[in-house]
Amino acid sequence: MIKTLAIETSCDDTSIGIISFDGDHFSVDQLLAYSQVPDHQKYGGVMPEIASRLHSEKILGVLHAVGWGEIENVDTISVTTHPGLPGSLVVGKAVGATLAKRYNKPLYEVNHIYGHIFSLLLERNKTDIEFPMVVLTASGGHNDLYFITEDQNKFHIEHLGKTLDDAAGECFDKVSRMLGGPYPGGVWIGEMAQKHKTKLLEYVECNKCDILDNAVSFKRIFLAKESFDFSFSGMKSQVSILLKNFEQQNIALTEDLICEIAYEFQESVVEVLAKKLARAGLKYGAKTLGISGGVSANDRLWEYANGLIKHKNYINLNFSLVKPTKKIYSTDNAAMIGVVGILQQEHML
Ligand code: KG4
Ligand code: ZN
Repeated sequence: MIKTLAIETSCDDTSIGIISFDGDHFSVDQLLAYSQVPDHQKYGGVMPEIASRLHSEKILGVLHAVGWGEIENVDTISVTTHPGLPGSLVVGKAVGATLAKRYNKPLYEVNHIYGHIFSLLLERNKTDIEFPMVVLTASGGHNDLYFITEDQNKFHIEHLGKTLDDAAGECFDKVSRMLGGPYPGGVWIGEMAQKHKTKLLEYVECNKCDILDNAVSFKRIFLAKESFDFSFSGMKSQVSILLKNFEQQNIALTEDLICEIAYEFQESVVEVLAKKLARAGLKYGAKTLGISGGVSANDRLWEYANGLIKHKNYINLNFSLVKPTKKIYSTDNAAMIGVVGILQQEHML
């Protein structure tokens, strides 16, 4: 059994966890965080200067809550070193390096995005996931597709595509702001979209489809046919243009309309994410498709991707679809950093 104490401070969560691995299963023994979301909410996004200061103020409190005595019992320290906000990363790196020196433990420097990829192993057996796997990591700060192969107990990671502008989560946040919603906006957009869907289902049940005017619809942006890159800023602009048009025409932004826009926007983003994932899986011969990162907490993305892999184009491939076992493992957290630290220690990465 090996244990690591993991630290994640790349953005707006000061998260520390203890993760263990028995050669097969990755367990989360502890996971605690100070979430800065309420501190950034009034600015509508993460303020790097404030994030860095709060990490410095809170990290020892989080460590204290985990328990100083626990540090003696772990084998290694794992810490996010890149990518992320430099002023935030430096706090975790300094604390991680200090603990490693003070307690004489090896220090593993972890790539945050690799953390999202291998968050899929949290509270799973390593053999629960069949490789090769294509993974979509969709968050507020990044949006990528990776092809992961395993050979003789070693993982190989190939980068297939990235966002050319905004990440999907960033777009959820910006559209939420345009519609008067909170930061971060992903969960709120999902809730508004669900309200619209419930209404749609009621109309269908009552045979009242004729009263739906379909005033709102957004173009899906796939870029070139074979491209695994993403572009979401155009999606955001479509919402902005629509809102300007409504304003010019004196159309009030009622709650019903907000819900309809949220629904159509979510449908467009989810369709692009899921189709690119499935197409990459098809092209690269993946056995598993994975979704991770904050946006993987979106229920509609999960539902859509599940429907898609049953479509005639993909059904014979028998893809397994996986996401993190809990929503807290989708968003930024130290547990996923611990998994990568352990894989590095075990020379699996
Ligand atoms: O992975 P994460 O915690 O941080 C980054 O590494 O960026 O992701 C945060 C992002 C935010 O943009 C948030 O709006 C989005 O993930 N998000 C969601 C949902 N939950 C969080 N987006 C869509 N649906 C959700 N349920
Ligand atoms: Zn992240």
